[in-house]
Amino acid sequence: MNGELVPQAEAALGVTTDAVLRGGSVFEGIRAYRSTTGELLLFRLREHLDRLFNTSMRFLRLTLPYSADDLAQAVCGLLAANEIESDAYIRVVVYVGEQGLGGADEIPAGVFILATEGFRPAPESMRVTLSPWRRMSDVAMPPRVKASANYLNSRMTTTDAERKGFDSAVVLNEHGRVAEGPAMNVFLVRDGELSTPRRTDGILEGITRATVIELSHDLGVPAVERAIDASELYVAQEIFLCGTAYEIAPVQEIDGYVVGDGRPGPITRRLRDRYFEAARGSLADHADWLTFAASAAVPGPTRPVPVH
Ligand SMILES: Cc1ncc(COP(=O)(O)O)c(C=O)c1O
Repeated sequence: MNGELVPQAEAALGVTTDAVLRGGSVFEGIRAYRSTTGELLLFRLREHLDRLFNTSMRFLRLTLPYSADDLAQAVCGLLAANEIESDAYIRVVVYVGEQGLGGADEIPAGVFILATEGFRPAPESMRVTLSPWRRMSDVAMPPRVKASANYLNSRMTTTDAERKGFDSAVVLNEHGRVAEGPAMNVFLVRDGELSTPRRTDGILEGITRATVIELSHDLGVPAVERAIDASELYVAQEIFLCGTAYEIAPVQEIDGYVVGDGRPGPITRRLRDRYFEAARGSLADHADWLTFAASAAVPGPTRPVPVH
């Protein structure tokens, strides 16, 4: 937390901080995978820190006394300090302190990082519903900014879906087109082609989404970013949700419509297998997506290290 290793029970934010009072924080969720040869690999750490600094913090004019390389080193140091050697989930949170709502050109922020060993694996299949709630508009709460406050919308959609007995939901944007899930992007397959909403459809520009698009190129599966009608979800041959926490989660049913034959379809399965191969370091072509956690196992953001 702000450059120090702190026991979690002692890591505290004041009740008068903007983070606590008004949801003034932005964050990243990152996974670490243990490779087939036993090393701990951070998946796309550089891209996560890039989104943190160059989208979320930039948009809200937040500044830190640390660089992205400093935080990469801090993530590695935290894993080492906790002796985490197996799969893990890391959360990097940049928060506004006593700043209030006003601001200047640059708003000084604080940072804390959490690491959890053995984070839950993605669900094998999901039953989802089309949420009655809409995703926020870009001109109100831009979904591309990974702000904690945006998760009020995610909370509404998830609560509604779970109360109705579903695992999760797909949310439409203000124009009635498919946007995303509460913590994941959406892909569907129709006639052998993979489609996902455009970056301008009210989505978080997911790193897993970008990964899936690259992997689809590797597999020779055509992938398009386009406006998707809600009704396409009910007639798609395959649907999956994807994100750091959900990895690649096949949708087996949406609002009672069974997707395909109810089992993960062939394109979903091939992408999923390749995703895990990439994340666990067995795809030489995508070695640049990985950071060896042991490469900077010195606690504290003091010594810059390359981010991969
Ligand atoms: C709203 C939302 N969409 C999409 C995603 C997937 O993003 P990523 O793949 O970068 O984790 C997330 C991740 O938490 C999310 O919260």
